[in-house]
Amino acid sequence: MVESINQMRSDKWLVVGAHGQLGKYFTETLTAFGANSLSLGRAELDITNPDAVDRVLRDFRPTQIINCAAWVDVEAAEENVDDTFALNSDALANFVDFTKNTDALLVNFSTDYVFDGGNRSPYLPTDQVNPINVYGRSKVAGERLLQEKLPDNSLTVRTSWLIADSPKNFVSRVASKALAGETFGAAVDQTGTPTSCAELATVLVETLAKQRLTGTHHITNTGETTRAGWAEEIYRILGVNPELVRPATSETLPMKARRPLYAVLDSSENGSIGIPTLSPWQSALAESTVIAKFKAHR
Ligand SMILES: NC(=O)c1ccc[n+]([C@@H]2O[C@H](COP(=O)([O-])OP(=O)(O)OC[C@H]3O[C@@H](n4cnc5c(N)ncnc54)[C@H](OP(=O)(O)O)[C@@H]3O)[C@@H](O)[C@H]2O)c1
Repeated sequence: MVESINQMRSDKWLVVGAHGQLGKYFTETLTAFGANSLSLGRAELDITNPDAVDRVLRDFRPTQIINCAAWVDVEAAEENVDDTFALNSDALANFVDFTKNTDALLVNFSTDYVFDGGNRSPYLPTDQVNPINVYGRSKVAGERLLQEKLPDNSLTVRTSWLIADSPKNFVSRVASKALAGETFGAAVDQTGTPTSCAELATVLVETLAKQRLTGTHHITNTGETTRAGWAEEIYRILGVNPELVRPATSETLPMKARRPLYAVLDSSENGSIGIPTLSPWQSALAESTVIAKFKAHR
């Protein structure tokens, strides 16, 4: 551990998209470890601007680039195809030359939505992708760009259903309804794994401080549930009757983009490559700062 902290201090970490859900937790984690890091939000660095990216890379000279910038609005992506691809795929090209020339590592995040959801058991990192919406297609394009241009200098981490302290995400929307004693309609036919941004950031920083990791890997909390099951757990943790969650099927919910019905990511290989196993999703949820905030307002 001491060795990895020392290594962390000799590395230079650049976090881009730093004010998003995941970006904030990377910034907090790196600060807590005393790492040499620079975190830039969209206002400080627009990653679709090649000159701006180049300037920051050449000034700061990071050894690890953590890209948390992305177009994640799955619904809006359907009507903003070019912008979604520009951010989730094309912008990655702006990091390629510097990363390759300096032997840095570019870490990018992808999603369970690269799969079509037809599986009945968790998807392996090597399983065939087949996205069924624009967001998923754009993330596959980003994955492929990195596989092609930076095979030895990039890490793609697929994760799912993020738990973070953010006012508009699933947990916050459900928790607000729960505390108001109102019902919440959630899909019973979409299965995945809620994943704590705090745990994901900690595990990844600790792992990358110890060893270099490339390729495509799955990191989520353990277990699986449906959207409705996730919502019920939020009600339960907040001491509200989970029967207020109204089970719905995806086709009855107002959604433009199709979602994969079964989108659990298999991360069983992680132990053998040095990535610690994350906790069960229920405890990660219960211990999250977002839940703590809602509990404080009960
Ligand atoms: N959220 C999930 O449940 C989920 C699930 C699976 C995988 N992922 C992946 O995890 C990663 C992080 O997701 P997240 O939920 O943290 O996303 P997020 O909260 O939406 O954060 C994305 C950040 O990117 C910023 N951004 C947008 N355009 C930019 C640009 N041109 N240059 C620089 N920054 C820009 C956004 O800034 P503004 O706020 O100013 O727009 C925002 O702060 C993404 O790659 C996503 O695909 C997320």
